[in-house]
This record gives sequence, structure tokens and C-alpha cells, in this order.
Amino acid sequence: MKIIQCIDEMQSIAQTARVNGKRIALVPTMGYLHQGHASLMVEGQKRADLLVASIFVNPTQFGVGEDFDSYPRDMENDMRVAESAGVDLIFAPRAADMYPVDYQTYVNVEKLTLPLCGANRPGHFRGVTTVVAKFFNIVSPHVALFGQKDYQQLAVIRQMVADLNMPVEVIGMPIVREADGLAMSSRNSYLSPAERVSALCLSNSLNAVRTAFCKGERSVAALKNLVLDTISKERCAAIDYVEFRHGLNLAAVDTADEQTVVALAVKIGKTRLIDNRVLGEE
Ligand code: PAF
Repeated sequence: MKIIQCIDEMQSIAQTARVNGKRIALVPTMGYLHQGHASLMVEGQKRADLLVASIFVNPTQFGVGEDFDSYPRDMENDMRVAESAGVDLIFAPRAADMYPVDYQTYVNVEKLTLPLCGANRPGHFRGVTTVVAKFFNIVSPHVALFGQKDYQQLAVIRQMVADLNMPVEVIGMPIVREADGLAMSSRNSYLSPAERVSALCLSNSLNAVRTAFCKGERSVAALKNLVLDTISKERCAAIDYVEFRHGLNLAAVDTADEQTVVALAVKIGKTRLIDNRVLGEE
């Protein structure tokens, strides 16, 4: 497995691969890789001849006061995880090369970025779509894989690809969970042992909603109360949002159906975690 820092080198390897008829898969990441990332890589390997994983903590998607500086980084472990998941090339550019002085071009998806995480993290998705668009131009993937834990991010990226006619197939992959249900996330490493236990209120509340939905409850107000009840029992948990949205266009819904996604953002101590569940999915 090779590590490439230089943007021009990555671009030229990708162009040569394409000329030689190779299919390229890209798994964009910010590193601190876990089994959730590995599942994207394993799937990417099945779908392409050249599997590229980018590792880049993207400064433009962090707001003032957010955790850009403290975001966990561990390149040695990342290399181990990526290699055993079948990655051929790690693309790990320098921030100063991705965003040189006088950088001034951003990609912004308008409506889908307004609710949910976009409401409390202004500019976040603009940073995500900008860096993903840059990766698409540099790596020229035929297929790119993203986790469904970042449900809104996936919807926003699909919208960007459709709106800008980008020739990339976007694949969303299921959330990978710890044995006790906590959705895997690099930010879980911030949790103290006690907070780690409290953090289960996210997946537990989603399970409670799904159970009630399967028993026939369709009122969003009633389903939302189940989430609020479960999360309010945890003293260190503070809700950022609990939203019931249409799974494709993220419009708010009053009545749940199989396509409804329940999306949560909850602060456990100082750590903001997100999770979601599409009610029609097992
Ligand atoms: O999901 C992430 O890790 C990031 O938002 C992404 C897509 C790699 C862009 O920096």
C-alpha cells in the first residue's frame, strides 16, 4: 500500500489508471479509522480495481470552537486498518496544498444543508461538499463510498453529484455498531468510561422508536416522546436535535412511515454524537 501526499501525483496515477481501463473506488475519511471505515473499504475493493482511501482532517468543515485541533489522529493505526481492508493507495494531502493562500472556491448545496446538523453547524456541509468535490477531481473515482451514520452528509453529497452532473456512483453503507449498539465513530474516543455507557441512550432510543413503529405507532409526536424519555434519563446527555424526516428529501414529517429517518444529535458531556435509523430498515 502506497501513501501519496502530492495532489499532482495522485491525479496522474488516477488518470493513468483510467486510461488503462481500471475502475477506481474512493473512500473519503478523516482518519482515526475504525471498522465502520473498514466496511466501506472492503465494499470499495469489491467494486473497483484501484481502491483509494483519503485521510484528511478537513479544516473547512469545522466551525470556530469545534474540535479541529483535537480531532484524533493516528496514521500508523490507519495504515494497518486500511491495508487489511484492501486499500491500494492512501491519499493524505497537506492542508496547505488543498487550501493554498487565496483559496476562494466552495461548493454549497442549498436546501438540504439547512436543517439537522446544518442548523447548528453553519458552514459545515459547505466544507464537506467542497473537499469531496476536490477529491472527486483529484482521484477521479468511478464509485465513492460513504457511511449512513452521517445520513444528512450522504444526502447532501448525492444532491451535489446529481446537481453538478459528477460522473461518480455514490454508495451509502450501513452503520457499523459496537456490540452494545453504539454507532462507531472516531469521536467515541473522546468519551470517558461513564460517558461511554451514557452514550448508549442514542441507539437505545432509536431501538425504542423502531419497536413502537413495528407495533403500529405512526404518530411522530408519540415516537419523539420515546426518544426524549430515554435520553432525558442520562444526566450528562443534552439533546441538540431529535428529528423525524423523509428519508430522501429530509422534509419534516408528522406521520412516520417506512421511509422515515429518525436522526439524533446528542451531546454526551462535551462530545457531540449523531445516530439515525430508517424506520423501514431491519
Ligand atoms: O465523513 C467524513 O469523515 C468527512 O465528512 C468526509 C466525507 C471525509 C469529508 O471530509
